[in-house]
Amino acid sequence: MSNVIVLGAQWGDEGKGKIVDLFSDRFDIVARYQGGHNAGHTVFIGSTKYVLKLIPSGILRPGVKAVIGNGVVIDPAALIQEMQTLRGAGVEIGGNLLISDRAHVIFPFHRLIEKMSEARENRIPIGTTSRGIGPCYEDKIGRRGIRMADLLDRESFRLLFDTLAEDKQILAETFQLEEPVDYARIRDQYEQYADCIRPMVADTARFLNEAIRGGQRILFEGAQGTMLDIDHGTYPFVTSSSAAAGGACTGTGVAPTKIDGIVGVSKAYITRVGSGPFPSESLDEAGETIRARGNEFGAVTGRPRRCGWFDVPLLRYTATVNGFDSLIITKLDVLDELEEIPVCVAYRVDGVETSEMPATFRAMQAIEPVFENRPGWRTSTKGISRYGGLPPAARDYIQYLESRTGVEVGCVSTGPERTETMIRSGSRLEALLGLAQEGH
Ligand code: IMP
Repeated sequence: MSNVIVLGAQWGDEGKGKIVDLFSDRFDIVARYQGGHNAGHTVFIGSTKYVLKLIPSGILRPGVKAVIGNGVVIDPAALIQEMQTLRGAGVEIGGNLLISDRAHVIFPFHRLIEKMSEARENRIPIGTTSRGIGPCYEDKIGRRGIRMADLLDRESFRLLFDTLAEDKQILAETFQLEEPVDYARIRDQYEQYADCIRPMVADTARFLNEAIRGGQRILFEGAQGTMLDIDHGTYPFVTSSSAAAGGACTGTGVAPTKIDGIVGVSKAYITRVGSGPFPSESLDEAGETIRARGNEFGAVTGRPRRCGWFDVPLLRYTATVNGFDSLIITKLDVLDELEEIPVCVAYRVDGVETSEMPATFRAMQAIEPVFENRPGWRTSTKGISRYGGLPPAARDYIQYLESRTGVEVGCVSTGPERTETMIRSGSRLEALLGLAQEGH
């Protein structure tokens, strides 16, 4: 075992924070590769709740290094605030956090542009997190963005910032954006942020590759989920980064040949925040029950999440584009009280049954889900940490998901705590984590 990618198999919020935190003691480094502070990874350690947005959950493990890769976009104010909150909670942050010098910087005007774009007439709002993520990636791809290294370089920063500010002023005038922006103040403020962040900024691609050569193990932590990936998700209702497994390589500078395993995280059901197609959405009472039992409210925005049933065609699709070696099923306990559990097993589009993921937004919205009901177990699974300890109907449900998706379920989570988890013996996941030889 060595380098493993852990990422969301659905629309994000699959419980990756807990899983990455749990596995991180098997690794030397945890690296984030995309997204920004739009992500919200919740980790419970004892009675303490930590919500991490930008900093990889590995920071909570003493001895583990946390890396924010070049594929991430960083709002320095959010980063500094997160560091302060963590320090306030007793988490040590010093040499254990490294930030890529190639990561792009988010500015306050990115948020304003996003607000303007979401509110524009005749535009379908995406329902973004309003963190300026999309406009920052636009500047990156448009080759006018400002990177961490530029922010730290006083000479070039001023020049680059003023040019970018000029661009934004033209845009604001064109769109008659009224909100005043004090560019000079922002520039001064960012120079102060630079001084605060400077000790942590490094060539993280070099650091990671040297670590690999030295035999260290890296856990790559995805944010959001595959269905929010800019290329493979439900475009345009996606985030602006490469959340799928391929993004781990471009977003850190580690080659695909160095990756040993890819692990998908999925809830035992499914949720989505924001707008966009959602074939297996449950708009009735059952959806409400899941939302209440699963506490399905956004970790960053507090928005209620849309809830629905496990979607097999979607999972098969994300398993293909990511090449999952193993799947982790989280929040099984949320389904404890249900008599029957619907599972979406196929799609019907324009009267034709299919298991393929349509490319267009129109076809995605036209999907009629085909459901199959599975028997519930109607007993508590909360906190069970042995696969054999699960009620037979819960094991049947897991095995059903496994056979339908074609991916092993290597781990099941039955609560937010580290201990409320089981890793299945003999699984590929167990081998990837190096647990098999230890006979855990
Ligand atoms: P953005 O990432 O703020 O641009 O938002 C684009 C879409 O991705 C919206 O539907 C958001 O609700 C969704 N999104 C962004 N980050 C997350 C996340 O961490 N979990 C779930 N959905 C997210």
